[in-house]
Amino acid sequence: MSRMLALAALLPLCAIPSAAARPDPAATGQAQFERLWLGSAWYPEQWPEASWDADLALMARHGANVVRIGEFAWSRMEPREGEYDMGWLVRATRLAAKHGLKVVIGTPTDTPPAWLTKKYPDTLRVDGNGVRAVHGGRRQFSISSPRYREFSRLIVGKMAGALGREPNVIGWQIGNEYTDESYDPAARAAWHAWLKAKYGTLDRLNDAWTTRYWSQTYSDWEQVPFNNDKANPGWMLDLKHFITQTWVDFQKNQLDVIRATAEPRQFITTNLGGLGWANRFDRYAINRDLDFASWDAYVGTGHLQPYRMGATHDLVRGWKRQNFWVMETQPGFVNWAPVSNMLYPGETRAMAWQAIGHGSDAVLYWQWRNALNGQETLHGSIVGPDGKPLPVYDEIGQLGREMAKASPVIAGTTPESPVAILQDYDSRWAIDFQLHHKDYDQIAVLLDYYRPLKDRLGQVDIVAASAPLDRYKLVVAPSLNVIPEALAKQLDDYVRGGGHLILGPRSGMKDEANRLHTQRQPGPLAELLGGRVEQYYALDEAVAVDGGTARIWAEQLSTVAPDAEIVLRYGKANGWLDGKPAAISRKVGKGRITYLGALIDDASMQRFLETALAGAGVAAEFAAPPDVELMRRTGEGREVLIVINHGRETRNVRLSGAMQDVLAGGSKTEVTLAPEGVAVFQKKTQGAEK
Ligand code: GAL
Repeated sequence: MSRMLALAALLPLCAIPSAAARPDPAATGQAQFERLWLGSAWYPEQWPEASWDADLALMARHGANVVRIGEFAWSRMEPREGEYDMGWLVRATRLAAKHGLKVVIGTPTDTPPAWLTKKYPDTLRVDGNGVRAVHGGRRQFSISSPRYREFSRLIVGKMAGALGREPNVIGWQIGNEYTDESYDPAARAAWHAWLKAKYGTLDRLNDAWTTRYWSQTYSDWEQVPFNNDKANPGWMLDLKHFITQTWVDFQKNQLDVIRATAEPRQFITTNLGGLGWANRFDRYAINRDLDFASWDAYVGTGHLQPYRMGATHDLVRGWKRQNFWVMETQPGFVNWAPVSNMLYPGETRAMAWQAIGHGSDAVLYWQWRNALNGQETLHGSIVGPDGKPLPVYDEIGQLGREMAKASPVIAGTTPESPVAILQDYDSRWAIDFQLHHKDYDQIAVLLDYYRPLKDRLGQVDIVAASAPLDRYKLVVAPSLNVIPEALAKQLDDYVRGGGHLILGPRSGMKDEANRLHTQRQPGPLAELLGGRVEQYYALDEAVAVDGGTARIWAEQLSTVAPDAEIVLRYGKANGWLDGKPAAISRKVGKGRITYLGALIDDASMQRFLETALAGAGVAAEFAAPPDVELMRRTGEGREVLIVINHGRETRNVRLSGAMQDVLAGGSKTEVTLAPEGVAVFQKKTQGAEK
């Protein structure tokens, strides 16, 4: 049965402070945000040159305007040491131009050629158990090897020389899906040098890691272990910082070469995979040197999980606090999932529109056409081994026509929200190192806050804990375990200045060395809160909290300041928690700080957040029918609404007023969406079509 629910008025634009980091392609001449981009990964090196034209013509026919090439083709670019052939890349790039397709060039450092690693085995990665990688797969290189960096510099320099001024090249992707660090001797030396630079003296290091515990005290830098063992949590956090810095340097090695040669209008990015939430290293740090962030949005087994995928897009948007690219997504199915099933008809298109709704300005499929052999021959593609369209081609063609139509309206807009969720790699690592409850999944905890906020607001930002927060009326930190003094000061200022900060369980337990704060949680924010955590409990059974339940984790709170209020109380619980405060809150300065000490059920969370939104003065006005997702992008006098029915039932959506239907045309006050249905509306502004 279809349902009719009203979508109340969109939030007035004035409720949202203007974007601090709105992309301005005009300033750099870079192309990434000037229009919506559609394309795929194409591997001309795998096919006879005579077939290229037909491939590119078919891409153009389904509406592609960009193609990504090169990222695994090192052995084709440098078949023998020092013998370079960039001619084919230039020819492919120019042929793409003939078909109206711009080109993104990938550097091939994910796949060194066999001659290189055979002759120079020190360029091969060594895993945490001391085992050296072999040729035959990918990612077998060491990110720490100075020799590998030198070879990378040379090949990337040749590429930049050949393509850095090529008019049809709009940008570069460095490497591909950074993944594995290395534990080879060069990496070990770099680790010790990094520690020395950070701490200066071993006394400082010993103090930060509390090494008197278990006689871990070091009297020589060489004694400090280097492997991937689960060890001292201070050591583990530093290892993560070191690995992050190694990737930053690995990337910068190539970035500097490209920047020195290529025209500044050519952007530089990399595609970060790992389903977005991966945390082998800090992705804010990786993105700092790049022009914008890109990632790979895959579903794998099953179907799109709209909240999780949407939140992942928001995470990626938060890496640089600006729009981003989906550099890879699946044209129907993958080859690596436990069940690599096909998406429903229309789901591929709906996924693309969801990405755009969350701030992506590009959707590129992986891949155009499968290699006839190699590890990924069964992956979804857009054309078959015969080079002819597969069934999903037409769906992508529909998307291509729609993106072309919507591009002038959407380009230059970005999602904005009055509410942010904080995501912090140090905290994620610190909790994961000492989980305490096997089911404490920080992404699930974050999504528990995200879902009700997303339903009511359409957009939610997910940003680093250190991001500027003044534009937000409400900031939620679901698991901000590590709160150094400087961050505490910033959050304190935010609250006193009029913001509302909600801290979730486990917040403020650790300092920057992953050491326990000597003040009880939330550590340096306990005074501001006017209360604290008396004790934390990993729960083996659910406990009652004000009409609902808490699972997995619950903390017994207490108020210290007379003006601190108790917001939630445990009911009959595990004895320790009975009747004790589960959430406390305090008005301070112009703002408010709230601490919620338990993982509560969905209905309780919804009530808790409704109260918080109302208290923070956020107009929570969306009420979409079930399974319907609403996304809003705004920009210079424009407001675009993207509506998707992710469910299996037809839904009617009534708009808050007449809006321009960008895809179907005409002015609408309501729309009927079949399963996987998508509509794009532009809010009428003065002078728009009647
Ligand atoms: C990505 C990777 C691509 C391809 C794809 C298959 O993670 O970047 O090269 O392997 O997965 O789904």
